[in-house]
Order: sequence, then C-alpha cells, then structure tokens
Amino acid sequence: MWDDLKRLAAAREGRRIDALFAEDAARAQTFSVEAEGMLFDYSKTQIDAEVLEALLAVARGAGVEAKREAMFGGAKINETEGRAVLHTALRNLAGTPVEVDGTDVMPEVLDTLSRMEALAAEVRASGITDVVNIGIGGSDLGPKMGTIALAPYHDGPRCHFVSNVDGADIADALAQCAPETTLFIIASKTFTTIETMTNARTAWDWLEEKGVSTDGKFVALSSNAEKAGEWGIPASRVFGFEDWVGGRYSMWGPIGLSMMIAVGAENFRAFLAGGQAMDAHFRSAPLEANMPVLLALVGMWHNQVLGHATRAVLPYENRLARLPAYLQQLEMESNGKSVAMDGETLGFDSGPVVWGEPGTNGQHAFYQLIHQGTRVIPCEFMVGARSHEPKLRHHHELLLANCFAQSEALMRGRDLDEARGKVAGKFEGAELERQAKHRVFPGNRPSTTLVYPLLDPRTLGMIVALYEHRVFVEGVILDINSYDQWGVELGKELATALGPIVSGKESAEGKDGSTRQLVAFTQRNT
Ligand code: F6P
Repeated sequence: MWDDLKRLAAAREGRRIDALFAEDAARAQTFSVEAEGMLFDYSKTQIDAEVLEALLAVARGAGVEAKREAMFGGAKINETEGRAVLHTALRNLAGTPVEVDGTDVMPEVLDTLSRMEALAAEVRASGITDVVNIGIGGSDLGPKMGTIALAPYHDGPRCHFVSNVDGADIADALAQCAPETTLFIIASKTFTTIETMTNARTAWDWLEEKGVSTDGKFVALSSNAEKAGEWGIPASRVFGFEDWVGGRYSMWGPIGLSMMIAVGAENFRAFLAGGQAMDAHFRSAPLEANMPVLLALVGMWHNQVLGHATRAVLPYENRLARLPAYLQQLEMESNGKSVAMDGETLGFDSGPVVWGEPGTNGQHAFYQLIHQGTRVIPCEFMVGARSHEPKLRHHHELLLANCFAQSEALMRGRDLDEARGKVAGKFEGAELERQAKHRVFPGNRPSTTLVYPLLDPRTLGMIVALYEHRVFVEGVILDINSYDQWGVELGKELATALGPIVSGKESAEGKDGSTRQLVAFTQRNT
C-alpha cells in the first residue's frame, strides 16, 4: 500500500516546498480546507495533487467511509474487546437514535447528562469552594485539559486534578482545600485503577482525620456502579457510562463533570455541540474536503511514507498547555500497536511519537532541534485568530506573528550565502566560513497550521473531535484496533507483583539482577 506513495516521495526528494508556492499561486488555497469556521492549511508540505490523490486512494481503498458509518452506527469495531465505539453518542444532543445490540442508547445518555447538569448546578450554588477530580489517563487528561483551556469561562469552584500515585500529587491538592467545602469526584471507568483507588482512599482518610463527615463529599464517575457502591458511594451519586466509551474518548460524558462544574452546563453543552458539528462534517464531507481525513493523511504521509517518527503539536495558545499530553494518550494509546486486526504483525510503522508544548515557550527550548537538528520533525501549529484578552491585542499580534514565522522559517530555511551575509563584517576568511555554516537552516521542513476564530467551548469541542476522528482514520488505514490498549497491562501486572517485594514482605528472589538491585538500593535508603 505504501510502495506507490514511497515512489512518489522518492521522485520528490530534495524538491523545495517554497518553490511550489512560486509555481502555483493558488497552492495555499488548494492544499487547505475550511470547516465549521476553522482553517487547516497543509500547503507547507511536499504534498501536491498527485500525492494527495494517491493518499485519498489509500483512504478509499481502506474503506474509511464504510467503516466511519459502522462506527457511528454502533457496530462493534473494537473487536478485541467486542465493543462498539460510540463516544459520538455522548455529544448527540439531538438525541437521534443510536443503537447498540438493538437498543437505543440515547435516552440513557441524555438522562445522565441531565443528572450531571443538576449536580453541577447544585455544586455551583452550594458553598463548595474546591472540586478535586481523582482519576488517571482518560479519567484525568480530558477534563484537566478542557478546564485549563476554558479558563475564561470558569466561574464555578476551583478545580484540582489528582492523578499520580505519587503522594505528592494529592498532598499538594489537599493543601489547597478546606475539608468542609471540598467535593471529591472519583473518576474511573473500571473503578479498579490502583492509582485512583489509592488516592480516593487517601482523600477519604483526610476527611476523617479532619473530623469532617464523608457524607455527600464523594461522587463517582464509572461504568462499574457496583464497585463504586461497595466503595461507599450511593447510586444517586454515581454517574455511569457504558463500555462503548473508551477512557481516552470519555471527556464528553460523566468524566467531563469537573469541567462542567467549572464552566457551567451551558458552556459544557456548547463544547458537546462543537464535537457534534465536527462529527457532522466528518460524516458528510467528501474525503478530499474532510478535515479529519486530511489531517490523518498528512500525518501518514510524514510518518508511514517519509519515515518521520515523531510529530510535534505546537499550540500557540497557552491555555492549550495540556493538549499535547491529552493527544499523547489519544493518539499513542490508540494507534501505538504492532499487530493488524487479524493478529498478524504489521509490515510498516504504526502511529508516531506525539509530543509538544505551547508556543512561544517551545521556541526558547526545543525549536533549535526542529530547525537545525538532523531529524525532520513535522510540526502541527494551531492558533486562534482572536484571544480572550482584547486589551492585550499587541500580545496576540506577537503570538500570531511568531506562530506564522515558525512555519515560514521551517519551510524557507537560510542558505549558506544568506548566512555569510549575516556574519560578514564580523568575521573574515576561514572563520567567516565556519561561523556562517553554524547559521545555516536547511529549511524544507514540513508543517501544518490549524487556525480557529477563538478558543471558546464550541471550538474546543471541534478540535478534540477533529483529533479523535484523525485517529480513527489512521487506525482504519493501518488496519489496527485503535480502541483497545493491551500494551498497558503487563506493567500493571508486574507492579502488582512488585508491591510486596518493594515493601519487604516478599523476597526479590527470582527477579532479574537489575530489578533486585533497584529494590535493594531503595530499601537501604528508606
Ligand atoms: O492504563 C490505561 C487506562 O486503562 C486508560 O486507557 C484509561 O484512561 C486509564 O487507564 C484509567 O482507567 P480508569 O478510568 O478505568 O481508571
């Protein structure tokens, strides 16, 4: 499948991207797509009409359109777990029927949404000053990322997010809270995750130590109401969701409760509506004008065809500081697989390493490597046309200028002649030559830019859904299951076995030499 594309890539080796703009005045418009008020510009890449056609043929050949309908229709596309994949139902505000095993799931989804809204209203109107969401992975990253992103809309109680089993995490959060006015939200799909259960118990003990009743102080967000009940949270305080909502796709439902309490139900609904608008676009736009499809294909051109192993996500939006971490789970837990649907080993690379930080901070840290390092790192920039700080317009203009300058610099680079010009007068002869070489930028480095009007709740919903569907399209083309995560199991099992060894209750005998040494060293130093 990739051979034809690799041949196209080889034929384009060394071709300058900036020259493509000189040849084609309409290049920027041709290799861009607008949807729902957002612009995705992928013209600063090596993609041309022939490459795009070949990429679209790969998507069509993989059956993206039919599989997309299967997903939205409730088919059990998560084959290794025998589950449907229906996070889209959580934002189906119109309530049009969505069936799983012949049952319409929408009445329950909408009922849970109303219950969440009632609780959020109650908490916002009560004297609760602090909400602590205790969860990890998908039960943490989404609501945390979203709450930070929507800071201008945050008019509810303060929100804290505790995820790490490192006691420092909960200790730091509790230090900021008053026991009488703090609500704990225990967010865990399975209600068995060791980090979450350990932190939840510590929160419970903290209230008891402070002499404050635990009654009404805990809420559970979980698919496992039984376990939540056994733990001590009554059914009326449990907000459930079904197994067809994957952890990393769950911020649209009960897992989003802390964010809803922070910004209010109306803003949360706007977030859902944004996701729903992106769903409608994804389902109806032809592949060549379909933003998630194009985002996926550009990523695959860079990863599977050109072999660039990582991609940087660079939001020029300080409030999207946690988006790269959120996308790390979304993309890497979904598409970091090495077997195809049929269990056979993949003959090509699966999803890339995803990483990033907000601009402009990253510019003063790791952009050096992006510009002059030996590896090519495709960059995904994103920025809002407007900010929430109209009085600080000059800040935003600087932010925009920096964002656009980076993609321009990556593409243009600076050749030796230009570099010589920069140091001429300061140096001469061999030293001038040496100094100039350090100032050369190879350029021709690809990037894409997503521009949205303003990071409001609706736009956040569109961006998250855009990336979810990108992951789906990549997964379909790779023929992998994007919705399981067996790769996290082994470490969990070994940690369970190592617990009693670390605490000295069991011997480390039988473990490898390195593990024995690590255990012994920490035991000597406790
Ligand atoms: O360990 C991986 C994982 O299963 C993620 O997929 C999930 O988001 C996270 O753990 C938390 O799981 P839970 O919500 O069941 O506590």
